Amino acid sequence: MRFSSISRQAIAWCVVIASACFLAANLIGQEKGKAKVTSSLFPKDGPTIPLGLVPLTFPEDNAYSPAKAELGWLLYYDPRLSSDGTVSCASCHHPKHAFTDGSDVSTGIKGQKGGRSAPTVINRGYGALQFWDGRAASLEAQAVGPIANSIEMTNEKDPAKAHSTCLDRLQASKEYRLRFKAVFGTEDFTIQHVGQAIATFERCVLSGNSPYDRFKAGDKKALSESQERGMNIFFSNNARCDSCHDGSAFTTNQFANVGIGMDKVSPDLGRFNITKREEDKGAFKTPGLRDIARTGPYMHDGSLKTLEDVVEHYSKGGIKNQWLHQDVRPLNLKPQDKTDLVAFLHALNGEGWQQFVAPKNLPK
Ligand code: HEC
Ligand code: HEC
Repeated sequence: MRFSSISRQAIAWCVVIASACFLAANLIGQEKGKAKVTSSLFPKDGPTIPLGLVPLTFPEDNAYSPAKAELGWLLYYDPRLSSDGTVSCASCHHPKHAFTDGSDVSTGIKGQKGGRSAPTVINRGYGALQFWDGRAASLEAQAVGPIANSIEMTNEKDPAKAHSTCLDRLQASKEYRLRFKAVFGTEDFTIQHVGQAIATFERCVLSGNSPYDRFKAGDKKALSESQERGMNIFFSNNARCDSCHDGSAFTTNQFANVGIGMDKVSPDLGRFNITKREEDKGAFKTPGLRDIARTGPYMHDGSLKTLEDVVEHYSKGGIKNQWLHQDVRPLNLKPQDKTDLVAFLHALNGEGWQQFVAPKNLPK
């Protein structure tokens, strides 16, 4: 019959077209294959926010995408960011040490020591200004800093040269060129693109769901009795730790002089070096306290080795100096209070960040 011969022809055509589509899709897939997101670490709609943290906003000019976060993860762990191929971001901010380095001050290329302690990258997406003195306005701006820092990652004296040689090393990789093309639409990527990708990854490195968060969510057994007493001291009118360490990331992101290193002959003046305001002398950015039991030594100069040392420092009212913050004054904590406060700080150890270990392979 005529009708059935038409329909047979139609079916035949459909099969031909469908196969062609299938073949084309496969070819395109192969062409772009290496640029595809290969890891399940980065969900489609953004990082999973652990219990206790508030929602995270990504900047309008650097929106989240799984491919961008994954690219940032690769770059973060890639020693090709440094001129002699020995140092990556993770060298000083490693998951093994809750994204810091476990040292008082950091060691960069050729074993050079810097003057400050490496802060953790965990929950930095909640902070506006970056560095102990807040000299970087965003994670994007911060990320390109170490690449041009001659103590940390480069042999070059000139920052522009340091960035261009870093780009040369990355652009030598076909896979990086494909990945940057997929994310930013160009294989001729810039150092700003590198910073944007790394910042996107960093915003995924989160910590929540700690015993403290579970306690707050109603699980009254999540804290030990000592931790619960320590929590009450932390938020008390005497200790007032939360006047600076407040909010879901335990920081107001404000700067304060809590009397660290102020007995040195020429102390690090911190925030003052950036603002030149008298009241900022010896002031440093208030660090978040999540996973604090895992990120010692403490303070901008790594001068306090343990949480016991930190609590002792606050209990005696810090190191006296004319710019000391008013909330840092003798607290006269009893030995049991100190034990409890330290126990509470341990209850801020959380989870989320542990999944972001080094990638198995870096782009060839
Ligand atoms: C040689 C060690 C070293 C390397 C390599 C390094 N950092 Fe850091 N990082 C530090 C130190 C030390 C500081 C604090 C410096 C300061 O505040 O003056 C810091 C600060 C930061 C901060 C600010 C955190 C805060 O609380 O304000 C972020 C974010 C960061 N680094 C990310 C990175 C990224 C991304 C890379 C790779 C591009 C990187 N770091 C490479 C040692 C290092
Ligand atoms: C006036 C604001 C302020 C108050 C009050 C305050 N802190 Fe801090 N805290 C800071 C600042 C600023 C730093 C970093 C100081 C530096 O490195 O010079 C810091 C550092 C810390 C650190 C080390 C963080 C790290 O990553 O090295 C811990 C732990 C800490 N504070 C716990 C507490 C506890 C516990 C209390 C209450 C007894 C408290 N803080 C009260 C502002 C404050």
